[in-house]
Amino acid sequence: MKQSLNKNKINILLLEGVHEKAVDMFKNNGYSSIKYYKKALEGQELLDAVSEAHVIGLRSRSQLNAEVLAAAPKLFAIGCFCIGTNQVDMDTAREFGIPVFNAPFSNTRSVAELVIAEMIMLMRGIPQKNMALHLTGEWLKNAENSHEVRGKTLGIIGYGHIGMQVSTIAESLGMNVIYYDVVNKLCLGNTNKVDNLKELLKESDVVTLHVPANDTTVNLLNKKAISQMKQGAHLINASRGNVVDIDALVTALKANKIGGAAIDVYPIEPKSKNDTLQSELRNLPNVILTPHIGGSTIEAQENIGLEVADKIIKYSDNGSTISAVNFAEVSLPHHTGRRILHIHKNTPGMLTSLNELFSGMGLNISAQYLQTYQNIGYVVTDIETTQDISLEEINNLEGTIKTRILF
Ligand code: NAI
Repeated sequence: MKQSLNKNKINILLLEGVHEKAVDMFKNNGYSSIKYYKKALEGQELLDAVSEAHVIGLRSRSQLNAEVLAAAPKLFAIGCFCIGTNQVDMDTAREFGIPVFNAPFSNTRSVAELVIAEMIMLMRGIPQKNMALHLTGEWLKNAENSHEVRGKTLGIIGYGHIGMQVSTIAESLGMNVIYYDVVNKLCLGNTNKVDNLKELLKESDVVTLHVPANDTTVNLLNKKAISQMKQGAHLINASRGNVVDIDALVTALKANKIGGAAIDVYPIEPKSKNDTLQSELRNLPNVILTPHIGGSTIEAQENIGLEVADKIIKYSDNGSTISAVNFAEVSLPHHTGRRILHIHKNTPGMLTSLNELFSGMGLNISAQYLQTYQNIGYVVTDIETTQDISLEEINNLEGTIKTRILF
């Protein structure tokens, strides 16, 4: 009778040099069959590598499209050891009963620290002084337009994970922090919420953007919004490139309406190291430009490694799918006996058919959890038994996509 696998038979394929802490975590949790590649795989090499994999971990370069997923019949989980998940065909993965995990917030602190550093640099006029020394050796030794941040007002647009982290550090520097968000959020520390964007722009010495890219945020900082900012205030954008109208920003920077800006993200970004940034922001003395590295630190990579490995291990050991990107999310307690994970097509009567089957197999259910998401359903059934359960019988049930039995 076929049963689910022992941990040491679960093949884990890790691509693109995911952080070694992730490898340690798999090993410490009993997973020993690990294949580790430092590079991204493609073509036949990728197809061959995935053919025996139960779990695949990758970063952003290996492409798990429908063809690759079809070549991985044993695959039951995918971990994107990064923020984005475009490199995986999410719909096909779901149809094959494969949840995809990522680490959307592991680099929150890294972004916040960069924003704070840039804010201090801008307030001291460092970009201009730095550029003058580099280009001509000009010695701009003066205190003109150079300010401490203590006692100044920081305006945060988007009070989510990063916005909140920025607010906490800014307050510890003695700043007044205000924020604007479309959702009602609990203020941290002495931070104050303002009712609208205009009020935030009017009050802030430094404005920092931490919103997602969506219909409401395209060109959020446009000509009109910029005109509502304090004369000489500074702007930081480490969120998404199309949130700021670059033409309007350049005009405002040249006119010293905006004293300085730090930009990490752009409407059009170079696709690779071989491309260069094309932007009117280049060569402006009061601008710090960084190549979308707000979240890129060793610590963030380590956090990503631990977060994604942890999510995969929880799913593999326990069935929990919390924070899966493409899948029904189920948070499960510890289990004893047998736990049956059943992924099926989301059609009426599926649960009834499954329970009739269990009853026919003489299985007594002690707990059951069901969640559906788009075209799939995920039902987890705990059975207080140590007896073998036939995987084939369950897999033969009409509508079944994938079954695993945990013990
Ligand atoms: P989050 O989802 O935790 O927070 C976003 C906040 O923006 C939420 O509170 C939301 O209610 C608010 N919001 C949405 N639309 C808004 C609007 N029109 N006006 C005001 N507030 C609005 O996101 P998180 O993790 O804080 O990330 C924020 C941004 O930072 C995202 O765009 C993300 O892509 C970007 N990011 C950039 C990185 C970099 O390397 N530069 C690294 C990580 C994230």
